[in-house]
Amino acid sequence: MREIQPPPIRPALAPEELLRAAERARTAVVTPVPEGGVHVGVDLGTAYVVVAAVDSVGTPLAVAARFASVVRDGVVVDFAGAVELVRELVAEVEERLGRELTTAATTYPPGVAVSEVRACRYVVEGAGLVCTRLVDEPTAANAVLGIRDGAVVDVGGGTTGIAVLADGEVCAVEDEATGGTHVSLVIAGHHGVSLEEAEARKTDPGQQPGLLGVIRPVFDKIATIVARHLADHDVDTIHLVGGTAAFPGIGEVMAARTGLTVEVSPHPLLVTPLGVALHDPGAAAAHLHEPLEIRHG
Ligand SMILES: Nc1ncnc2c1ncn2[C@@H]1O[C@H](COP(=O)(O)OP(=O)(O)OP(=O)(O)O)[C@@H](O)[C@H]1O
Ligand SMILES: [Mg+2]
Repeated sequence: MREIQPPPIRPALAPEELLRAAERARTAVVTPVPEGGVHVGVDLGTAYVVVAAVDSVGTPLAVAARFASVVRDGVVVDFAGAVELVRELVAEVEERLGRELTTAATTYPPGVAVSEVRACRYVVEGAGLVCTRLVDEPTAANAVLGIRDGAVVDVGGGTTGIAVLADGEVCAVEDEATGGTHVSLVIAGHHGVSLEEAEARKTDPGQQPGLLGVIRPVFDKIATIVARHLADHDVDTIHLVGGTAAFPGIGEVMAARTGLTVEVSPHPLLVTPLGVALHDPGAAAAHLHEPLEIRHG
């Protein structure tokens, strides 16, 4: 496959402001919607499927997300369900923007087989969009974070992804099957409640401080895995992203176990979806590039 890599959009806003704008774009209608190009990202996760749209300078316009079980550990396990869901989320964004979406870039977890990467593309195409780019998740996240050297640790629903960046490029990746679902299972087991109830308690800011004692060992296990993978790399700082990074206290556990500086991204659930939207060249430029790029970090 020919390697043509249009650079991602360089956002006009700094990362923190960009992510705050993305959080607002989850619920608010962004007005006025600009006349220029719209760039779209689709992030298929184990816990959340997200469609994000940004304008030509990367400012978030609309973000639609749904809790779903169409992907497990980076693999699309319910293809028809995934297509339907992306179609619904795209329709939601289209309605809010008052314009049609035609292209999207999409993510894949580093390290999965090429056939699984293609499945992500087919989901986007099945939902009626031209798939312009396939971007590995840490590379997508780094379009927002803009890190040159360090580690991006993505604690999602099903997995924890660990990526080392050198000179702005992903140079090593690992994916471990521990994440937010595991955290919820521990809460459910400890308190004798359903997984749904555990999930609700875990994401309720009022209940989070009281739950840290129970789930600290899970965070510590994740941190131990991260420390092991980073042992052979010259890394000073870990940038924490992914929905589970939104739990207050995870950064401190990670810093204590690894001995490294830990920066927890604001609105960490939105970093990768927003980053992949920044990689979509958009309808006007889609024909200038090879449609797909498959990279393995
Ligand atoms: N405020 C919060 N506090 C703690 N956990 C949260 C919060 N919001 C979301 N989560 C958890 O984050 C996880 C989802 O994160 P994310 O969307 O990054 O994962 P994903 O991309 O769907 O999964 P994966 O990357 O493993 O495929 C879920 O387990 C969810 O319960
Ligand atoms: Mg994810």
